[in-house]
Amino acid sequence: MKYERYISTLENLREQGNYRSFPETNGNLIELSSNDYLGLNKDYTLYADFVEEFKANKYKLSACSSRLLSGNAPEYTQLEKLISTAYQTEDCLLYNSGYHANVGILSALAGKKDLILADKLVHASLIDGIQLSDATFMRYKHVDYKHLESLLEKHRNEYEEVFIVSESIFSMDGDIAELHKLVELKKKYNCFLYIDEAHALGVRGKNGLGCVEEDGVIQDVDFIVGTFGKALASVGAFVACSQLFKEYLVNHSRTLIFTTALPPINLAWTAYLFERLPDFNDRRIHLSELSKAFAKHLNVKAESHIVPYIIGSNQEAIEASKLLIKNDFNVLPIRYPTVPQNTARLRFSLSADLKLETLKLIKDLLKK
Ligand SMILES: Cc1ncc(COP(=O)(O)O)c(C=O)c1O
Repeated sequence: MKYERYISTLENLREQGNYRSFPETNGNLIELSSNDYLGLNKDYTLYADFVEEFKANKYKLSACSSRLLSGNAPEYTQLEKLISTAYQTEDCLLYNSGYHANVGILSALAGKKDLILADKLVHASLIDGIQLSDATFMRYKHVDYKHLESLLEKHRNEYEEVFIVSESIFSMDGDIAELHKLVELKKKYNCFLYIDEAHALGVRGKNGLGCVEEDGVIQDVDFIVGTFGKALASVGAFVACSQLFKEYLVNHSRTLIFTTALPPINLAWTAYLFERLPDFNDRRIHLSELSKAFAKHLNVKAESHIVPYIIGSNQEAIEASKLLIKNDFNVLPIRYPTVPQNTARLRFSLSADLKLETLKLIKDLLKK
């Protein structure tokens, strides 16, 4: 039968506790699964202020075209300029999402004669981009820079260019890459360094520019990718890079060329918030203190505002999530293939608008 394969695959997923469906959203729950790390998505004062700006500027609600055709509204260049000025990089290029950026950059830049070395736990969007490239792909053990160096020692000379790829704050474990070490290896072995700051942009660094700012390595990273759909409560993504790479990507990056550009209104909202990033330091400090206190309270290790509570089995993670939701905490189970098999977990994604007092009940619920 024509449909049997699909039906039985879905049945298998159900049996393994891996079946996915869209959860109902309920705005009344205490939100612990969103990436609204600074609480900007609930800040209606900012919204109201931006609406006035919108009325004055009449931003378009759609680009109705790719940027290479008629979609290149002034808001694109303005936001790119704002970002490259903040990072002091030669240039910046916008993408429609972090997924588009990660799929479109490495697939365009890395060719047959090149090698990509990525941390074992990098996000699916990076893996997809790498697999679409013609380069050889190897993974090093998660944040194990001795392993990375051993691969570089062994293979560097076999390839023309080598790209080292990592997230700064890892999306599912909330732990942090050692950027200084990555920069050291990049320099020693003459490689390009690609850092995905999806979960650090807005949250880390004095001006909210991410771990690259916090660690003082902006100028040493060849590709800094940031996404706007998380702490920046908007949509889209950027890569801060050299002018040459921007030019190359504009000519080769398929996820940029063959898609309708983001609506100018979204770019204007992103720019509105990006400009104000330095003003959110109080939120960053509170989030950092809250994360440490919450992890201590739960007795788990956490290096950032993403606090993983590893349960192991899919079914138990689902049950734990159901119990928390019943008690007004919106925490969803994270399962394979998003995380490795048997490491199903609750991923507490904290936000600067939360208080420890509100979260204290969670520990007792988890004991159940
Ligand atoms: C590390 C990382 N990079 C990229 C993305 C994709 O970003 P976007 O949601 O903007 O497509 C995500 C999304 O969860 C992510 O966790």
